[in-house]
Amino acid sequence: MERNLALEVVRVTEAAALSSARWMGLGNEKAAHQAAVDAMRRAFDAVPFSGTVVIGEGERDEAPMLFVGERIGSGDGSALDVALDPLEGTTIVAQGRANAMAVVAIAEKGGFLPTPDTYMEKIAVGPKAKGAVDLSLSPAQNLQNIADAMKCYVEDLTVVILDRPRHAELVRAVREIGARIKLIQDGDVSAAIATGFPDTGVDVLMGIGGAPEGVLAAAALQCLGGDIQGRLKPRNDQEVERVRRLGIKDPDRVYGIGDLARGADVMFAATGVTDGDLLRGVRFFGGGARTHSVVMRYRSGTVRFIEATHRFDRTPVY
Ligand code: FBP
Repeated sequence: MERNLALEVVRVTEAAALSSARWMGLGNEKAAHQAAVDAMRRAFDAVPFSGTVVIGEGERDEAPMLFVGERIGSGDGSALDVALDPLEGTTIVAQGRANAMAVVAIAEKGGFLPTPDTYMEKIAVGPKAKGAVDLSLSPAQNLQNIADAMKCYVEDLTVVILDRPRHAELVRAVREIGARIKLIQDGDVSAAIATGFPDTGVDVLMGIGGAPEGVLAAAALQCLGGDIQGRLKPRNDQEVERVRRLGIKDPDRVYGIGDLARGADVMFAATGVTDGDLLRGVRFFGGGARTHSVVMRYRSGTVRFIEATHRFDRTPVY
């Protein structure tokens, strides 16, 4: 893959973030989401590659843009698969809370597990605990193994869990073994990636969230040298059927990081929409705005944080 593509893709996540950030706190999830989708779609037109959306906004008949199967990019250059979430955390933005991001991951053809829009049970960790996660074991066993790998006490670990009634038993089990818990309202991609950065104070992400979000997190953790396992959790018969239509024969299969996102060309870019553990949100000022993004490539292992100042009198208004 073209090395510069990663930097081109940041423009796409910046555009989506700038556009949706206008809706912060205004209570309108739909408008925040649509603004991100429209801006991301437009920005992709200028990116010199031939992309196919494999994780996107749903199927063609339910999503007007960035649907699974849609061709994006200028059409020149390499043919690559794209996993994206123009606004990871629509409720976050509508309520003005933490950790909303615009996200794009790219891989060579066939590099992403084509997950349906269902749930996924996940466990994600940073590089120090790579190889220490196993979804077939209990939460307590996993936390003990992670603590051993990180050469710390279980009590030193901070585990992020989405604050949902479905996690009552998980929270109980984590409390019993004594690890610290950070409950979040939304945004488990951001939490999964935070495990790869010791400064965030986040060591583990556990629990059930979106399956597409699991693939996006896997792309980032591949670049960072971290780890994630996932198991699909369809919520109803319709979702069971969707899983089956994708050719997934064993719905209980545990997917490793290499099943979720693989290949030397994996790259990941995200721009903060609202302030978060990893990225600052969009800051508007008279005539412009500042964005904060992260871009990573698996091949080189480079992780770049990019702070950009956008002038609305000179560049397109997003
Ligand atoms: P959206 O961007 O679709 O709003 O997703 C936010 C999110 O919190 C994800 O980070 C998470 O994986 C998923 O929703 C959890 O789903 P649910 O809100 O149904 O528990």
